[in-house]
Amino acid sequence: MNTVYFPPKTILAIESSCDDTAIAVVRNGRTVLASIMDSQTTLHQPYGGVIPELAARHHLTCIHGLLETCLAEAKIALNDIEAVAATIGPGLIGSLLVGASVAKTLSLITEKPFLAVHHLYAHVASNYLESDLEPPFLCLLVSGGHTQLIHVKSYAEMAIVGETLDDAVGEAYDKVARIMGLGYPGGPILDKLAQQGGGNPKAITLPTPKTQNPWDFSFSGLKTAFVRKWEAETDELETIPKQLQADFAASFQATAVKILLKKTVACAEALGLKTLSVAGGVSANSALRGAFLALRDEGYRVHIPKMGYCTDNAAMVGASAFFNPLAEGDLGMDVFSRVL
Ligand SMILES: Nc1ncnc2c1ncn2[C@@H]1O[C@H](COP(=O)(O)OP(=O)(O)OP(=O)(O)O)[C@@H](O)[C@H]1O
Ligand SMILES: [Mg+2]
Repeated sequence: MNTVYFPPKTILAIESSCDDTAIAVVRNGRTVLASIMDSQTTLHQPYGGVIPELAARHHLTCIHGLLETCLAEAKIALNDIEAVAATIGPGLIGSLLVGASVAKTLSLITEKPFLAVHHLYAHVASNYLESDLEPPFLCLLVSGGHTQLIHVKSYAEMAIVGETLDDAVGEAYDKVARIMGLGYPGGPILDKLAQQGGGNPKAITLPTPKTQNPWDFSFSGLKTAFVRKWEAETDELETIPKQLQADFAASFQATAVKILLKKTVACAEALGLKTLSVAGGVSANSALRGAFLALRDEGYRVHIPKMGYCTDNAAMVGASAFFNPLAEGDLGMDVFSRVL
């Protein structure tokens, strides 16, 4: 007899792969009953980047309080949860272990299944939250560590058809913002300056690197060219004029968005796909959102998750657990096979 898989309807989900501790309750992979998070941005701000040991310790201190708050917000008892899900990779091992251990423990206590989730599948699944989007579609995944074009053929079948050969676009944003002295985290600050600073997006000419596979990306050349031009313009200056800073920010943003948009459209055309989605932290970028939404006028169906579901969150983990739970051994970095 064939085993038929009936996904649990109400899932408690935990995300702790990096520096955000997040818990959510999601029904049917789409309806968010509660989604809360404790962000560690101020904790890591003085260092200009995430310190893994500090991140893991902070997850430990806040996760139990968050769990109680989340269940209260969802107006649901622990026993009414039908499965417990957690991100098991990729991410910082100490951080992953905190969320995954709590989830596994809850699953043992409640005798409900534990569902392991891949962090990047979860970013893709963020598109299903509070929407009726269905595969097939082409997803541009743009985050702090990844830049990929993913052909989502069905809920379970995804193929990476293009990806960055070096830096992720979020990483490039963060590095460029650091060089400009804009602070941490750089992506959203640079975005704001580019949108509202009154800069000219054509003021600085930046390269759009070529790749052998036309759907692959490369952001290291763009970043290096930017840094060279920035240093050449500002080295001798005691204070940097606001207009110059705004011009650089607007030019970087315009170039990055142009590259992402052009490659996604070319890839969609080649694959015959008319439905596009964007996911990952950089999908919070105002110019990228605007550029993709404008494709609706060209006959594309475009879906972008709402802001709170772009950067790391647990609701997307609940969606991924419902539509695409990992089978045992799916992941090389499975924290359970190593530790529990
Ligand atoms: N408005 C924005 N414009 C540009 N970049 C942004 C914006 N908001 C967030 N980012 C970038 O998104 C990234 C964080 O996204 P996310 O939380 O998805 O990444 P991550 O979880 O660290 O990486 P990954 O998902 O690849 O493991 C950072 O690089 C941040 O600068
Ligand atoms: Mg992420």
